[in-house]
Amino acid sequence: MASYKYFLVIFAAVSIVVLVLPRTAYSIPFVVFHGISDNCKNKGITQFTTLLSNWSGSQGQCVEIGNGAWDSWTMPFFKQTALACEKVKSMSELSGGYNIVGLSQGNLVGRGVIEFCDGGPPVRNLISLAGPHAGIASIPLCKSAWFCIAVDLLIELAVYSDYIQEHLAPTNYIKIPTDLDGYKNGCKFLPVLNNEFHKNSTYKKRFSSLENLVLIKFENDEVLVPKETSWFGYFPEGSWDPILPAQETALYKEDWIGLKTLDEAGKVKFINVSGGHLEVSYGEMKDYILPYLLENITSQPRLSELSHPSAWFAHKGKTLKLYASD
Ligand SMILES: *[C@@H]1O[C@H](CO)[C@@H](O)[C@H](O)[C@H]1NC(C)=O
Ligand SMILES: *[C@@H]1O[C@H](CO)[C@@H](O)[C@H](O)[C@H]1NC(C)=O
Ligand SMILES: *[C@@H]1O[C@H](CO)[C@@H](O)[C@H](O)[C@H]1NC(C)=O
Ligand SMILES: *[C@@H]1O[C@H](CO)[C@@H](O)[C@H](O)[C@H]1NC(C)=O
Repeated sequence: MASYKYFLVIFAAVSIVVLVLPRTAYSIPFVVFHGISDNCKNKGITQFTTLLSNWSGSQGQCVEIGNGAWDSWTMPFFKQTALACEKVKSMSELSGGYNIVGLSQGNLVGRGVIEFCDGGPPVRNLISLAGPHAGIASIPLCKSAWFCIAVDLLIELAVYSDYIQEHLAPTNYIKIPTDLDGYKNGCKFLPVLNNEFHKNSTYKKRFSSLENLVLIKFENDEVLVPKETSWFGYFPEGSWDPILPAQETALYKEDWIGLKTLDEAGKVKFINVSGGHLEVSYGEMKDYILPYLLENITSQPRLSELSHPSAWFAHKGKTLKLYASD
């Protein structure tokens, strides 16, 4: 009897060592989904991804959807997220879990992967820079050129028509606060992603399972209207003011996708930084992105730059512009 117990103890000890050992050398990789008009090969994105990868010692890569810039404008979001889903499923290095860093509209691709990707690898943290999570109310292509006026007019007339929805990707997350009927009946992506009219508990369960949701808002963002959408804030129903903080929206109060659940568990970090759209400094990357890439890493990260203060300070003030970064 005694020797049987002894055997059990040894067996348990061996099992623990066998189960735990491989994990200790394991670092969690991350993927980047870029914003509109951008491309994984552009300098800004490459530098951003390489820096985060170098600092964290974890494998990071930008995942391209279609051909990059053109498809980011024209491919409907369900197709973008389906392609992204297939890609992350095919990347065996992600199978033990990974983090997503979303840039602007790339956040909606990231959330699409989290919520819709059946059988996809588990997502640990979503680090969101300037994500149009609650929608946007206009496409600020540029300030005054005739092209923009024409596109704006077209959008105003037909933003929720099937044709525009299928050919101009950003219209998939335009939410005109004074045309909510049009939005409800015509907008093809955001209402589903936000569990707005038809609730799917699977989407909520998957989104609520994030370990951290880091929402970075850029104080001088002139691209997102309103910029508060980066924190899930938005216009009230039927009106252009005042802009509601996330906690006062129905999405939060009725907990459509689990934002409230995550927040109450202390898992949502609302961060504001001072730059324009996707203008992030090395210091902010170190303070607000890096910690979530380092989480769970037990092998020694290659903090070469961070561990040499002089090299670090030379870069501290540097800023990356990740909007149309070519
Ligand atoms: C990342 O690390 C590699 C190898 O140490 C180095 O060649 C490269 O310049 C680094 N990239 C950046 C953006 O710091
Ligand atoms: C909710 O989404 C899941 C996963 O995509 C799907 O299998 C299920 O049929 C959906 N349920 C409803 C009620 O739409
Ligand atoms: C962030 O917001 C707080 C208050 O809401 C403000 O005091 C602070 O200056 C802001 N930080 C930046 C970097 O804009
Ligand atoms: C990673 O950390 C989180 C909490 O910080 C924890 O819940 C999770 O189990 C950890 N995962 C691994 C693989 O260690």
